[in-house]
Amino acid sequence: MKTLREYIKEAEEKKVAIGHFNISNLEGLHGIYQAAKKLNVPVIIGLSEGEEDFVGKDEAVGMIKQIREKENFPIFLNADHHYSFERVKASIDAGFDAVIFDGANISLEENIKITKQCVEYAKGLGRDVLVEAEIGYIGSGSNIKETIPEGAGIKTTPEEAKNFVEMTGIDMLAPSVGSIHGIIKSGKPHIDADLVAEIKKVTGIPLVLHGGSGLRDEDFTNGIKAGISIVHINTEIRLAYDEALKKSLVDNPGEIVPYKILQPAVEAIEKVVEERLKLFNSLK
Ligand code: G3H
Ligand code: ZN
Repeated sequence: MKTLREYIKEAEEKKVAIGHFNISNLEGLHGIYQAAKKLNVPVIIGLSEGEEDFVGKDEAVGMIKQIREKENFPIFLNADHHYSFERVKASIDAGFDAVIFDGANISLEENIKITKQCVEYAKGLGRDVLVEAEIGYIGSGSNIKETIPEGAGIKTTPEEAKNFVEMTGIDMLAPSVGSIHGIIKSGKPHIDADLVAEIKKVTGIPLVLHGGSGLRDEDFTNGIKAGISIVHINTEIRLAYDEALKKSLVDNPGEIVPYKILQPAVEAIEKVVEERLKLFNSLK
């Protein structure tokens, strides 16, 4: 099987994007995997620090490896939004395929320093682990927000991106190009596809779009054409899970079998992921 790095390269060449979806439990993994398997496209499972603590690092690595090796399916594991070198290192040591050091909300100097430390650690290993970093704060938390959080959404300039990539040696960059983490009730700004193209041109490395939930279809397609190779979605699947689970409990008050109560939630996640994967992989 190709490595994650090779799948990303292939996505870059085909001008499509790999979907990255977060999980908090096994139901999430099943829903995402079923959708990816149905469409036969590679997929990345993300765990933020909180999600990782809830699922368990070793358990997550075990589940993903099991699917990848036994089912021969391209599914990969990413330590999403980790806020310290220690947390990044712990995920790498546990066997994650990729990590994100998120220093978007600290000083640029500190962001560069810790990102470099993560890159050096990953490069010194005997296996290929991809390191992503962020510049430009796009808010935090995959949740429903009334409006764009204060201080979020200032776009990354091509010059900032180029300097950051040169100084850190990262494999992938998450710049601020118009998206915000979470679903914004008042609406999200458009993705600045021209800016994506300029950043791609000057950095030459794969670009990652965070804060995918709630964006318009054309924002994804334009952004992917311009150089986005991975798209992150979380709030939309959390919402689908939450709504389906609540409905299942209300509709079946006498049901106590967890796998029966939870089945609609798995299907709801699968539906959202399938739609997003079709769009990201130009399958519709
Ligand atoms: O890293 C996770 C994401 O960037 C998800 O953002 O909750 O807006 O889909 P989202
Ligand atoms: Zn994110």
